[in-house]
Amino acid sequence: MNGRDAREPMARATGSRALPYGPALPPGPAEPRSGGAARVSRAAHAADTLTAHDRSARGDAARWEPLGMAVTPVLDMRGIDKSFGSVKVLQDIAFSAYPGEVTALVGDNGAGKTTLVKCIGGIHPPDAGEYRFEGRPVRLGSPRDAAALGIEVVHQDLALCENLDIVQNLFLGRERRRGIALDESGMEELARTTLSGLSVRTMGSVRQKISTLSGGQRQTVAIARAVLWDSKLVVLDEPAAALGVAQTQQVLEIVRRLADKGLAVVLISHNMNDVFAVSDRIAALYLGRMVAQVRTADVTHRQVVELITSGVSGDLGLRR
Ligand SMILES: Nc1ncnc2c1ncn2[C@@H]1O[C@H](COP(=O)(O)OP(=O)(O)OP(=O)(O)O)[C@@H](O)[C@H]1O
Ligand SMILES: [Mg+2]
Repeated sequence: MNGRDAREPMARATGSRALPYGPALPPGPAEPRSGGAARVSRAAHAADTLTAHDRSARGDAARWEPLGMAVTPVLDMRGIDKSFGSVKVLQDIAFSAYPGEVTALVGDNGAGKTTLVKCIGGIHPPDAGEYRFEGRPVRLGSPRDAAALGIEVVHQDLALCENLDIVQNLFLGRERRRGIALDESGMEELARTTLSGLSVRTMGSVRQKISTLSGGQRQTVAIARAVLWDSKLVVLDEPAAALGVAQTQQVLEIVRRLADKGLAVVLISHNMNDVFAVSDRIAALYLGRMVAQVRTADVTHRQVVELITSGVSGDLGLRR
C-alpha cells in the first residue's frame, strides 16, 4: 500500500469519506496497489480504456492494470497541441475524464493546466489533435458549443457577474420565460432546489448579489450553474485556491457529490491533500506535456510531487 487511505470509488458517498479538513471518518477497505482483478469497479473498467489509449497515444507514462470491460470516457483528448505565437504551451496531450469520477489535473504554475481547460471549454481551439466527447469526435468553435454538449467550466477567474444576484447568475443567457415575461419564481425555486441538492447551507437568499458573497459561496454558485444545466462534464480550475479551511471542505464535498451523481469532474488543484482526498485519478502536466495519468490509489503524494516538479518519478513520467 502507499500510505493513502485507498477507497473504492463506486462506494463513495459524499459524507462517508474523510476530506482533509473534516472530521476523521473510518477508513474504507484497503485497495490493492495493483492487480486488483477481483475488484471490478467503475474506475477499473475505465483504467482499461486508458491502457489502450495510452499505449497507442504515448506509451510512456500511464501504468494501468488491464481489468475487465471498458467505459467510454466522457472526454477523450489525444495529441493536443497548443501554441501562443512561438511558445508551445501544450504538446501532444492525451487526457481523459470518466463518468462518476474526479480526475485531478495537477502541474506547477505555468504547466499549461488552464490552457488545457480552455481547450476543453471551447475558448482556445487546439492547433492539432483529436477531441472526442462521449465517443464522438467534436470540434468546438466557442464556449457555447461546449455548453451545448454538456460541458461546464468553472474558470480560475470565475466569471460571475458581481452586480447580479444568484438567480440571475445561474440563469444568465438561459433565462426561463413564462409567456414574454421572465419566470422569476420558477427560476428562484430551481435555484433553491439546486443549491439544496448540493447541500449548500450557508447561503441566505438566492436574491443576494454575488458581490455580497464570500469566495466559497461564489464557487458554490459557479458549481451550481454546472449542476443546473445538467452537465456531463464539469471542469473546475482551482476552485479552492483562495478559500479558507471550512469553505474548501464544502467545495470539495460538492466536487465529490457531482461525481457521485455520475458526472465526469476535472479538478485542478495545487493542494495534494485535496487531490488525494477527492480524486479517483491524477493527470500530471509538466512543462506542457502530460507526463502521467494514474489512479490515485496507485501513487503516493511524493510521487505526484516529483511528477509535478521534475516530470518523472521512478518508472512514471517522461522517459529519461
Ligand atoms: N493567451 C496567452 N498568450 C500567451 N501565452 C499564454 C497565454 N495563456 C497562457 N500562456 C502561457 O502558457 C503557459 C501556461 O499557462 P497556463 O495558464 O495554462 O498555466 P497553469 O498551469 O494554469 O498555471 P497556474 O497554476 O499558474 O494557473 C504560461 O507560460 C503562460 O504564460
Ligand atoms: Mg491556471
